[in-house]
Amino acid sequence: MAHSVAIRGSFFHLVDNPWTLGSEEAAAARLISDGLMLIDNGIITALAPYDTLCDKLSDYRLEHIKDKLIVPGFIDGHIHFPQVRVMGAYGSQLLDWLQNSIFPEELKYRDRNYAQTAATHFFEALLGAGTTTCQAFTTSSPVSTEVFFEEARSRGMRVIAGLTGIDKFAPEEYCISPEDFYIQSKQLIEQYHQRDRCLYAITPRFAVGCSEAMMEACRRLKEEFPDCWINTHISENPSEIRQAKQEFPDCSDYTAVHEKHGLLGPKFTAGHGVWLSNDEFGRFSKAGAAVCFCPLSNLFLGSGLFRLGKAMDPDQPVRVCLGTDVGAGNAFSMIRVMEEAYKVGLCNNTTLDGSINPREQDLEESNRNKLSAYRAFYLATLGGAKALYLDDTIGNFEVGKEADFVALDLKAGQHALAWHQELTCDQGMPTTVQQAAELLFGLLACGDDRNVAETWVFGKRVYQCEARA
Ligand code: GUN
Ligand code: ZN
Repeated sequence: MAHSVAIRGSFFHLVDNPWTLGSEEAAAARLISDGLMLIDNGIITALAPYDTLCDKLSDYRLEHIKDKLIVPGFIDGHIHFPQVRVMGAYGSQLLDWLQNSIFPEELKYRDRNYAQTAATHFFEALLGAGTTTCQAFTTSSPVSTEVFFEEARSRGMRVIAGLTGIDKFAPEEYCISPEDFYIQSKQLIEQYHQRDRCLYAITPRFAVGCSEAMMEACRRLKEEFPDCWINTHISENPSEIRQAKQEFPDCSDYTAVHEKHGLLGPKFTAGHGVWLSNDEFGRFSKAGAAVCFCPLSNLFLGSGLFRLGKAMDPDQPVRVCLGTDVGAGNAFSMIRVMEEAYKVGLCNNTTLDGSINPREQDLEESNRNKLSAYRAFYLATLGGAKALYLDDTIGNFEVGKEADFVALDLKAGQHALAWHQELTCDQGMPTTVQQAAELLFGLLACGDDRNVAETWVFGKRVYQCEARA
């Protein structure tokens, strides 16, 4: 039987890239302040002002979401499912942190029960934060990958994930041989890729943990399954980069490791990219590959400040998504990620006073580092979808896309936001795109998952904040 639902409410979404519009960036967004969205079997079939569509209502179950701003579901481009229990581990940078806190925990995910308990918590945390799609790492055990996909399927979510390839640098019992990785990945691709809303990413963890043979296994998989995604880490931390250079002495830089093995291209995403050179940014751009900016993690592990302004160079634009990178990221909330991305942008804005410019960025690059509400919400929704080559199905409210969205409470009991809203709008809710952007900036600066009132996946409500349920 057809499942038809109509949502009445206030809708805000991005339809264009704000970086390309200069001072006209508001033109990248749309606000339909009293709108009606028609959803049939999970797909958006119409969105327009309520008055112009309400004659269709007899065929739909109506849900009126009052006093909330409805935005597309957030897209987390880089997250680790098996790190949910070890978020906030004290005291070290990447390589020590992996050895001391991460590999021992991820090893436990060979146990299906252990993995299942974590999966329930992981997906509840995602949906409670308003994240409806993620690209996730699992572990080197197929058990964890199966549990991840089954849990996502049971919730109807669009996800990308894959078995982690790692055959060195980690404890022996955590490593997987290239041959086993190839066989298990192939089985998992056949079982889950394009099943319901699941998509498969071939996942070489990072160059330090992958031998030449492991990278060759990834190449073989990509050649046999060209439709699959590739997910990895790149140039996150100076010690890691030094070690990667030693492991792949014939590669001129980190990006060359992926070029050499035929992986850099469309549907390739690398987390971090904090220390990518100008030349590497140029090669990412040409290849259509994406970088995932993970500010919570980059700050938590002291990895550095990502050059968003360089990635957004109009002469060689790189696809960029945002990610929490839980558990190096210390929150599930993409609102918090936007907040930290804004702060990193300002710290990176070294030419603001015209004097210090350690990274030799020009003034335009420097200005492109700075997030506005339009830019931030673009990256967390449509921009993230484009980076992941998913913008044909998610990222905004265009007709034909999948109905994943979040109802944001613009104040949620937080005084700073309530005052902000009062000062910005007489009516309480925004009536112009500019007002909505002003409120959304306040929300990203002062808000978090408390502001997520409801989360909907494929036309179904899957989370409602307890205070409002
Ligand atoms: N590089 C390789 N593995 C990891 C990981 O689990 N987290 C982060 N932040 N970087 C990595
Ligand atoms: Zn990561």
